[in-house]
Order: sequence, then C-alpha cells, then structure tokens
Amino acid sequence: MALLGLSPPGLAAGFATAAVTALWAARRRRRMLEELAAWIDGIAETGRGSRPEDLEEGLDRQVAAPVLRLTRRLRRAERRGRTVRHLLESLIDAFPDPVLLVDGGREVVRCNAAAREELGIAATPLPLDAVIRDPGLTAALDAAIREGRHSQVDFTPPADPRRRFSARVGPAETEETERAAVLVLREVSEQVVIERMRSDFIANASHEIRTPLTSLVGLIETLRGPARGDPEARAEFLELMAEEAARMQRLIDDLLSLSRIELAASAPPTETLALAPLVRAVADKLAPRARAAGAALEVTIADPLPAVAADADQMHQLVANLLDNAIKYGAAGGRIEVSLEHLERAPAAAGPVAGRSALRLCVRDFGPGIPPEHLPRLTERFYRVDRARSREIGGTGLGLAIVKHILRRHQGHLSIDSRLGEGSRFCAWLPVASG
Ligand SMILES: Nc1ncnc2c1ncn2[C@@H]1O[C@H](COP(=O)(O)OP(=O)(O)OP(=O)(O)O)[C@@H](O)[C@H]1O
Ligand SMILES: [Mg+2]
Repeated sequence: MALLGLSPPGLAAGFATAAVTALWAARRRRRMLEELAAWIDGIAETGRGSRPEDLEEGLDRQVAAPVLRLTRRLRRAERRGRTVRHLLESLIDAFPDPVLLVDGGREVVRCNAAAREELGIAATPLPLDAVIRDPGLTAALDAAIREGRHSQVDFTPPADPRRRFSARVGPAETEETERAAVLVLREVSEQVVIERMRSDFIANASHEIRTPLTSLVGLIETLRGPARGDPEARAEFLELMAEEAARMQRLIDDLLSLSRIELAASAPPTETLALAPLVRAVADKLAPRARAAGAALEVTIADPLPAVAADADQMHQLVANLLDNAIKYGAAGGRIEVSLEHLERAPAAAGPVAGRSALRLCVRDFGPGIPPEHLPRLTERFYRVDRARSREIGGTGLGLAIVKHILRRHQGHLSIDSRLGEGSRFCAWLPVASG
C-alpha cells in the first residue's frame, strides 16, 4: 500500500527524518530555555548577565525582549538608589553634629565625619562601648531598637567630665542588621554653647556687612568703567552709594549700642526719669515720618505718672525702635497708637514684672500683623520675618534685640501681641521702685 504516493520504506525514512528533526528542535529549545533561565537567574543574583544568542524568534520576542526591558529598568532604579544614597551620605557627612548608626549588638555600624572627628572613630564597625559608655544612653538605645521609641538623654563622657552632650535617639533600619538605632549628639557644655553663639553672631554680622559692601564695590566699579563720564549716572550712583554707606553705619551703630547695653547689663540705671516728656518728644520727632507713610500718630499719656529709674538715652532708643517698626511695617493700618500708663499690679503678661507696680509703654499699629510662629524669635539678633523686605526698607534686624536688652538691664519686660490682619502691639514694662 502506498500512502500519499510513498512506498513503506520511503515512509519509514520520512518518519525517521521527521522524528530526528523534532528531537533536535526539542533539544535546541530546551537548551535555549536553560540558557534563558540561567540568564534570568544571573540578573536576579547580580543585576547583569549576557543575553543568549541565536534565540528562536518567539522566545526572543516574548521572553528575551521583556527581560531586557526589565533589566534596563532595574539598572535605572539601582542608579537612582545609588545617587540618593550618596546624596544622603554627603548630607549626613556635612551635618555638624556627630551621627551614629548603632545595631542591636551595640556596634557602631556607620557614622558621619563629625562623629569620626569628635569621638575619634577611625573605622566602623566598632563597639559603642569603645566610644561612649553611659547607662542612660544604653537604655535609650535598647528602647529604640526593641520598641521603636524616641528619646533624649544628656550625659557626660567619663573620659572628659568637663564636657556634656545631649543625645537624641530613635529607631532606624539598616540593610545589614534590619533593626538599629540612630544617635545624634550635640555638645551642650556651656563653653561650647557660648562659642557657638559667638560664631553664629560673627557669621551673621559679617553677612549683614557684606551685603551693602558688595553693592558699594559694584557701584564703584561701574562708576570707574561703563558709567565714566556720564554725569547723570554719577549722580544717581553716588546717591545709591550714600544709602549703602548709611546702612553700614546704622548696622555698626546698632552693633555698638547692643554691646554697650550688654556690658552695662549688670549695672542697673540709677538716674530717675520722667518718662512722659521723653515719649512725647520721640513721638513728635517721628510723627512726620508716620504721616508720610500714611499713618496718624496718637499719643495717650496718663497723668500723673510715677518716675522710674531709667537711662534716658536707652529709653529714647527703645521708644524710637518700637515706633520705627510700627511705621515701617504697620503704617498701612492708617493709625499708630502710643500709650503710657501706670498699673499698681502688672498682669501676668508683664513676665518678671508681674504683680509689681509698673509703667506700661505700648506702641500699637493696625498693619498686617506678624504670623504667630515668628513671635518667639522676633527679639533675636538679625531675625526678620521677611528678610528681603526688611532689608529693602533699611532694617538690620537689631532693633528689637536692642529693646530686649535695654529692658533686661532695667529689669523690665517686652510683651508682644499680634494678630494677622489686625496689627501688632509691643509693650515695654518697667518696674516702679517701691518707697
Ligand atoms: N510692628 C510690626 N509689624 C509687623 N512686623 C514687625 C513689626 N515690628 C517688627 N516686625 C518684624 O520683626 C522684625 C524684627 O524687627 P527689628 O526691629 O528687630 O528689626 P528691623 O526692623 O528689621 O531692623 P532695625 O530695627 O534694626 O532697623 C522685622 O524685620 C519685622 O519683620
Ligand atoms: Mg526695627
């Protein structure tokens, strides 16, 4: 019998060839699949590997191409992860306080440059005990690692009893150990705190002086160069230069008066002063400026008033600074009120003067007010709510710091109330000497 025209021997040979081809194809496919599997395994393990060659078209399109896409995406994510990690590491390294990562076995597994320098850490990992040994700190670390608790502990290193640190401890996770704690140390020894304040102050003061100085230098260069021989530009630039120079002078005057007040802090004023005429005189002097800014100045002074022990120059400066602020920042309210009165018993708002016989001098404006989060910091040197705006209108950020120090020397107090959209009221409380 002939099937499809083939004789039985021909048929057998045909089947044999087909079977061999099919077997060969199946083997080849299995090898390809094994190579693919090995490639994917390699990517899973190391993130890389070389793609098998001579893949069947189907396998190439349906498996190899998506795996390649996945690999590319994986590499991108890895690169991004590495960048973020470097960024974080450089940020933590730039952090001025020592930062340590401590694992469950109390080993320091990682730390920043400040930790290496301050605590003399040469290499990690190393036992925390080798650097700091304090039972309170150990308990805080255990609580952070076991219960995820945050805490703060102060301690003195046994090696140097003159130093004092404050440590903030919180839970963290690491690749290697999973559970760990992060420790941020800050030196709080009195001497270090004073040193830090001093260097902050110098940095701030230099920055404030550098700003007008830079524009002066720029103006001089322009006058010597492109604006040379242009009389109009010269007049305009000289005007600007005078403004910048005046700003520097104001800044230096304010800094000097602040340091004078501080120097005299331990010697309270002894002269007796009638405050009413002084307040009236300052208000009269500043009234035209208030008017020009669009605000009417109203002065209310109760009569009679007891005299107080006060330094006339400093009281003059105090009233002028408060009024200057009301005019600069609050004139938009159209009205500024100045009041002076005597209270037999000052209320709680008078701080340390509360309960005593006191004079209260208030300057109130109806301007935009001050956001509450800024109120506690207003009397810090160089602190300004809107830096750019205050600088633009000639402020140095020292006015209220001077007011605070004057009041401190007079054993008085400054209270500040402000509501957004309603205005601000600054009150100076001065104790009246009994007897
Ligand atoms: N009456 C007010 N209304 C709104 N903001 C005020 C008022 N008084 C003070 N401030 C804010 O408080 C900041 C600090 O005031 P401060 O008097 O210390 O500095 P300054 O006015 O900027 O500069 P300086 O008084 O040295 O010329 C000001 O920059 C301003 O942002
Ligand atoms: Mg001011």
